[in-house]
Amino acid sequence: MRGSKVGRPCVEDGGRKVLKELDRERDEARPARDDVRASSLDIAPAGMEELSAQVVALVTEYFARVSEMPVFPAASAEDVAQIFRQPPPVAAEPLERVLEDCRRMFETSRHNGHPRFFGYIASPSTPVGAFATLIASALNSNVTSWRSAPAATEIERTVVRWLGSLIGCGEECGGLLTSGGSMANLNALFIAHRTKLKDDEASDKGLWNARAPATLYASDQVHLSIPKAADVMGLGREQVRVVTTDERFQMDVRGLRELIAGDIERGARPFCIVASAGTTSTGAVDPLEEIARVAEEYSLWFHVDGAYGALAALDSSKRAHFKGIERADSVSLDPHKWLYTPVDCGCLLLRVPAHAPAAFSATEQDYIKIYAERADEAFAFWDYGVELSRPFRALKVWMLLRYYGVERLAAAIAEDNALALYMAASVEAAADFQLLAPATLGICCFRYVPPRFRELLQTTDAPELAHVNAQLDVLNERVMQIVQRGGRAYLSNAMLRGRFALRASITNFRTTRRDIDITLETVRDAAHACSKEQL
Ligand SMILES: Cc1ncc(COP(=O)(O)O)c(C=O)c1O
Repeated sequence: MRGSKVGRPCVEDGGRKVLKELDRERDEARPARDDVRASSLDIAPAGMEELSAQVVALVTEYFARVSEMPVFPAASAEDVAQIFRQPPPVAAEPLERVLEDCRRMFETSRHNGHPRFFGYIASPSTPVGAFATLIASALNSNVTSWRSAPAATEIERTVVRWLGSLIGCGEECGGLLTSGGSMANLNALFIAHRTKLKDDEASDKGLWNARAPATLYASDQVHLSIPKAADVMGLGREQVRVVTTDERFQMDVRGLRELIAGDIERGARPFCIVASAGTTSTGAVDPLEEIARVAEEYSLWFHVDGAYGALAALDSSKRAHFKGIERADSVSLDPHKWLYTPVDCGCLLLRVPAHAPAAFSATEQDYIKIYAERADEAFAFWDYGVELSRPFRALKVWMLLRYYGVERLAAAIAEDNALALYMAASVEAAADFQLLAPATLGICCFRYVPPRFRELLQTTDAPELAHVNAQLDVLNERVMQIVQRGGRAYLSNAMLRGRFALRASITNFRTTRRDIDITLETVRDAAHACSKEQL
C-alpha cells in the first residue's frame, strides 16, 4: 500500500502484525456506519437467549418423554402430510408456532430411542450426542482438510485412532468418518481395488478395457452395500462371489478357498475378501482369523464389514469372536449403530492409511491444491474417501467418549448383548416361539409358532413341511405388521434359509428385561389378533 508505514509481512507470525496495522489504517479512512448489513441473519443477544432456552427445553422434554411415547405414531401418511405439506413461509413466523410444529414432528415420528424399538439397526442418541451436534453445527466447519478445519481435523484423526484401538486394531490405523457403513464400504472397496490390481489406467480410462473381471468374495449374509458398491464402481454385482454359510450363518472358509481357486483358474482377478463382523440379519461373525489367512495366502485385500458389530468387541464376553480383525486391511464400523451416536456417523479404518491417498490421487485439481509446508497441515480427507464437503462428525464421538468414558459405554454394549441372550432363552423356553438363529451379538431372530403347528413341523414330508413353513411365514409377516403399527414395540424381519423371522436388534441403552418380556407378550397378542382376523 502506498504511503503505508508497514513493511513486508514477516514470516514468524504469518504476517499477522503487519496485516493488523494495515487494517487499522483502512478503518481510520472509512466513513462511519458502513459496518451494518440490512439482510444480516444474526440474532440479537436477547433473541438468542430465548431461542436457545426454548430449543433446549424442547429437547430436554423429548429425552424425558421418549420412553412413554408410542414407538410408532398412530398417524397415516395423509395425517402427517396434512401437518407438514405447507407452502413455503415467505414471511417470518413466531418462534412459538415453529416449535409447536417441532413438537408435532416428535409426535408423528418413529422413536429409535424408545426402549422397545428393536427394528433394523438404529440406536438411540445420547443427550451428549445431540448437544455435540448443536455445537458442531454452530461452528459449521467443512471438514475437508486441516486447512479448512484445523481443530476438527485433529479431533477426527484422534477419534479414528481411538476407534481403531477400542476394537483391537491398534492406534496406528488411519481413515475417516463417513455418513455410515455403506459409504465406508464403498471407500474400502475402491481403495482395495486400486491397491491390489494396480490398474493404473482405471482412473482415467475406466474399467471397460480391463483384461478380466475383478472379483471379490463375501458370504451369502453380506450387507447389500457390498454388491451396491461393486455396482457403483462399475465392477458389476455378479463379481461379488457369494460364499455359502454354515448353520450359524458364518462364512464357510473351505467354500471360500474353492471359489477363489476356481476363479483364478478361469482367468478372473480376485482382489478382495469381505468378512462380516456382525451380519445384519443375525449378528453372526465370520471366522476372521481363518479368512485373514486365506487373504494373505492369495495376497488379497481383507476388508471387515463391522458396521453393525465391530464395536461389540468392547464387550469382553464377545471379544473372542473378533480375533483376527487386527489383520484386516480395512474395517468399517458405525458409531451411529452401536456407540449411541446420532446419525450420521460411520468410520473406515485403514491399517496402512497411505493406500488411500494413492488410490484417490486422481482427485488433484488447482482449486483444492494445498500450499502447506508441513505434512500435517497438508492433510486432506478428500484423499481418503469420496466426499469433499463433510460435516464435523467427530465431535459427537469425541464428546461421547469423554463424557461417559469407554468403561460405561462398553458396559451398555455388554448389557445389550446380554439382553439378546435373555430374549433368545425366553424364546427357547416358550412353547409358542421358535428361535431361528443363535444370538451371537445383540440380535434375536425367532418366529411365532401356534401350538397346533408344533407337531406339523415334525413332519419328514418335504412338500408338507414347505406348506407349513409358508403358512408360518404369512402369519409372522402379519404379526410383524400388527406389532409395528401398534406402537407398543417395534420389530423388523429377516429371511433366514427361506423362513420369515421376526428380528429384534438390541442396541439401546434404555432397554431392560421387562421391555423384552413386554415385547414377547405383544407378539403373542398380535398373533391372537391374527387368528381372530381369520375367523
Ligand atoms: C453389516 C452392515 N454393513 C453396512 C451397513 C450399512 O450401514 P449404513 O446404513 O450406515 O450405511 C449396515 C446397515 O445396517 C450393516 O448392518
